Amino acid sequence: MNDKWRLSCCGAPLLLTLCVCATVILIVAARSIPENEQTQVVDGRSDQAQPSHGEAVSDGSPIQILDRSFTETEIAQGQVVYTQYCAACHGVDGQGQFPEAPLVPDSTGRLGAPPHNETGHTWHHSDVLLIRYVTEGGFSDPTRFYTMPPFGDILTDEQILQVVAYIKTMWTDEQRASQRQLTEEEQTMFSD
Ligand code: HEC
Repeated sequence: MNDKWRLSCCGAPLLLTLCVCATVILIVAARSIPENEQTQVVDGRSDQAQPSHGEAVSDGSPIQILDRSFTETEIAQGQVVYTQYCAACHGVDGQGQFPEAPLVPDSTGRLGAPPHNETGHTWHHSDVLLIRYVTEGGFSDPTRFYTMPPFGDILTDEQILQVVAYIKTMWTDEQRASQRQLTEEEQTMFSD
């Protein structure tokens, strides 16, 4: 009788302690998952020479085109489109056709497909212009540039947006912010 009483008396605090410990472990584990994921993304970026592609961007802000934000899945779909339709000219990692000297004309006197990554100037173009480039193709002087074919009949509007969203993952946070500002300024200009 006495022993039983002592058991339940000690058992209750023990059980309580175990519960508290388990809760603490669960909370710590739950909190550490997003942190780990974030670290991996950041690590992935710093390990590579180029910013990571198709992953969350380092400052945590979403990839946007005009008023729309793109999910990781949509950006990954953009990467598939890029690999299939764009990489042959613009380079698998957006390094351009002639990564050694993108601004030097080749023996034909023309410039190749420009880099899309942070070394290029694609981020100097607004969203509307980027979409137009992909839809209608290049419009530079063909004696000075290789030509870019139009993709308006090959890709859906959605694929065009996704591939542009993917290209944006190749830029730095600062380049993305600057291109966003340019796009917003242009939108305000045309809405007036
Ligand atoms: C046959 C080669 C070729 C393919 C394929 C190609 N491009 Fe291009 N692209 C070019 C060339 C060359 C230019 C520069 C020509 C111009 O400005 O008229 C260019 C320019 C661009 C520009 C303007 C970039 C800047 O920095 O001025 C964008 C954006 C672009 N391409 C996106 C794409 C996307 C997206 C795809 C795939 C859907 C693609 N291109 C496929 C050759 C290509």
